[in-house]
Parts: sequence; C-alpha cells; structure tokens
Amino acid sequence: MSILIKLIVFASGNGSNFEAIQTAILDKTLNAEILCLISDKEKAFAHKRAEKHNIPSFAFKQGKDKVAYETQIVNKLSEYEFDYIICAGYMKIIGPTILNKYKGKIINIHPSSLPKYKGLDALGQALDAKETEIGVSVHYIDETLDGGEIIDQVHFDIDESMTREEIEEILHQHEHQLYVSVLQTLQGEA
Ligand code: GRF
Repeated sequence: MSILIKLIVFASGNGSNFEAIQTAILDKTLNAEILCLISDKEKAFAHKRAEKHNIPSFAFKQGKDKVAYETQIVNKLSEYEFDYIICAGYMKIIGPTILNKYKGKIINIHPSSLPKYKGLDALGQALDAKETEIGVSVHYIDETLDGGEIIDQVHFDIDESMTREEIEEILHQHEHQLYVSVLQTLQGEA
C-alpha cells in the first residue's frame, strides 16, 4: 500500500488540472489528499471546483508588497502538514518568501517542452515558431522562471490543419494525465 501524499494546490484560473488531480484521487488511482486550494484570484473558477469537492479554498490579493502577500500565504500554509505545493495555472511568480520555506516541494506544470518557451503564452510562442512537435512539462520551481529541474515531459505532434483551440484541448488532456502520473511516481517514492 503506497503512502498517502498531502497536497496544497495553487491555481489562478479555470482549475482543470486541479480537478484532474482530485478526480484521480476519487478514482483511487492516486493515493493523495488535496488539503486546500490557494489562489490569487477571488473569482477563479477553481474555487467553484474546490467547493464542489468540499476542499477549503482561499484567495489572497497581491498588492504592491509581494512579501506581505506571500507572508499571508505562508501563514495559511503553516496550518497544514503537507508534502507538495502543486502549481496548476498559478499565474504569479513564486517569490523568496514562499520559495525559501518550501524549496524542493513546489511543483509546476508548464505548457511547453521546457527548456523551450518559458514564460507567458508558451503555446503561442511555439506556434509562432512553427513547431510541429510541442509538449508539456512538470518541473520543480526554483528562483528561475520555468527553469527548475524537469520531473517529466510529454511531447506530441501538431500540424497546420489544427486550430489553436484543438491544440489546447489536446494539450490540456496531456497535462491532466502527466500531472497525475508525476504525482503517482512521487507518491511511490514517498
Ligand atoms: C495550464 O495550461 C498550465 O500549463 C498553465 O496554466 C494552465 C492552467 O489550466 N500553467 P487550468 O487552470 O488547470 O485549467
């Protein structure tokens, strides 16, 4: 029997990756528990998903003072004992206040074959570069932008006949599978 891993999810938007992880937990394909959702957006759809699954969710607004913002999050996190922070569409750069405390425990998913196309709109960057193979990466977060150690990636072919929407749909499916698979591996190592 594998050991249960305890997760905190950070999300800013739709939360489909968050939901995919929770679905794998409910399906018992992943022996994990999401303790809470943290967001920088009060209106993120991810909160609705959390509510549906009875997962506590919290929003903290970042003002001019990033340290103050992240201190609020660290204070909330100190209420929990957890193994990993899972960033799933969290649109803020993790600053030193969180990173120094939890380095090595913070994981992100990025929609590109890293190290290619870091930063915003990675898919747009790949399409502009006329890539015929794109990918998705799960990596540890460090102080560099999308530059931390890669845990796993998937790559897949695209062609000119596909619309951006079609590609995004396939990309999200890959993301959902990859995130769950990485967590299964980490759980095996726990
Ligand atoms: C994903 O494409 C992820 O790679 C990126 O933000 C998106 C979040 O999607 N970092 P969702 O909110 O999980 O649906």
